[in-house]
Amino acid sequence: MRILVTGGAGFIGAHLVRRLLAKEHNHVVNLDALRYSGNLENLTDVAGHPRYRFVHGDICESRTVEKALKEHGLEAVINCAAETHVDRSILDPNSFARTDVIGTAVLLEEARKAGVARFLQVSTDEVYGSVETGWSKEDDAIAPRSPYSASKAGADLLAQSYWTTFGFPVLITRGSNTYGPNQYPEKFIPLCITNALDDQPLPLYGDGRYRRDWLSVFDHCGAIEHVLRHGAPGSIYNIGGGNERENLTVAETILKYLGKPMSLIRFVQDRPGHDRRYAVDCSRLPTLGWAPTVPFEEGLRATVDWYRNHEAWWRKIKSGEFRSYYERMYQQRLKDGTGCAS
Ligand code: TYD
Repeated sequence: MRILVTGGAGFIGAHLVRRLLAKEHNHVVNLDALRYSGNLENLTDVAGHPRYRFVHGDICESRTVEKALKEHGLEAVINCAAETHVDRSILDPNSFARTDVIGTAVLLEEARKAGVARFLQVSTDEVYGSVETGWSKEDDAIAPRSPYSASKAGADLLAQSYWTTFGFPVLITRGSNTYGPNQYPEKFIPLCITNALDDQPLPLYGDGRYRRDWLSVFDHCGAIEHVLRHGAPGSIYNIGGGNERENLTVAETILKYLGKPMSLIRFVQDRPGHDRRYAVDCSRLPTLGWAPTVPFEEGLRATVDWYRNHEAWWRKIKSGEFRSYYERMYQQRLKDGTGCAS
C-alpha cells in the first residue's frame, strides 16, 4: 500500500512510519510541518529507505496535501499530525483548533478528491471526557473538556461526517495515554524520567490520584496498522493498554527504576479542568483480531532505559524551546509545591 502518514516526525507518527516500512508491500510518505515536537532525528534510521519519502509541509495547506497525494499516488492516509498536549492547549487554544480541526478538514477533503481508499484518523480517548466510573464505548456520546480534546472531537465529527455524507472510507482510532521512546518530554512519563535523571522534582498535579490507562507506543502503532487493514469503514476503534494507574504510582515506579528518592515528588497546583480519569472499553478491537502485548511495568522499564541511553536526544530538546515553556508552566508551581509524604 502507498500510505501518507501525516505528523510522521512526531512521537507516534515516527514509530508508525518505521513499523509500516518494515512490511515490504508498503511505501510511506511522511508529511510533517516540523513544529516544536516534530523531529527528524526520530527517523534517522529510515531516512534513506528506498520506500520512504519525507515532505516538509502543513496539513492545513490544501495545495501541499493535494500535491503530496497526487505525486506519490497515495492510496491511504493515516492522520497523526496534531497538537496534542493539554497544557499547551490551555496556553494557546487556537493553534489546536487550526491544526487538529482545520488540518483534518483539509486532509479529508483532499483525500476524498484524490480517491484515497482508506483514511484513518488517529484520535484519543480524551474525546469522551472525564470518566469517573466505568469504561467509554465507541458509541458513547463524546464530551471533551479541554481545548485539546475538543479540537480532536471536532476532527472526529468531521471524519464521521465524510463517511455518512460521502461514503468516504474513514476509520477512527481512539488510543489511550501512550508512552515509549522518543516522546517529547512535555508529557508526564518522559517529563518524570528526564527530571528524575537530573535529580529535579517530579511535578504531580493536584493530589496525584488522577488515573490514566497507559498504552505502549508499539501496541498503539500495531493497533493502528491493524485497523487500517482490517477495520470496517465508518467505524471507531478504542485502543487501550489495560494498564490503569494513578499518576502517583507511575511517578513512584519511575523513581524506583532509577534508584532515585521519593522525595523528588512534588504536589503542585492542578491543571485547570483536569480530567480525573480516562478509561476505554476495548472489546471491539479484539473482534478484528488484535490485543495489546506490552505489560506496563515492562514497557515503562524499557522506556526508562531508552531515556537513560539517549541523553543527547532529550537534552537537545530540553535546552531549546522547551525551556521557556517549562519555566512558564512549572516555575511558580514548583516554588509553591509540597513534597511527597511517602
Ligand atoms: P499528560 O501526559 O499531559 O497526558 P493527558 O493529560 O493528555 O492525559 O498527563 C498525564 C497525567 O499526568 C494527567 O493526569 C496530568 C498529569 N500530569 C502531572 O501530574 N504533572 C505534569 O507535569 C504533567 C505534564 C502531567
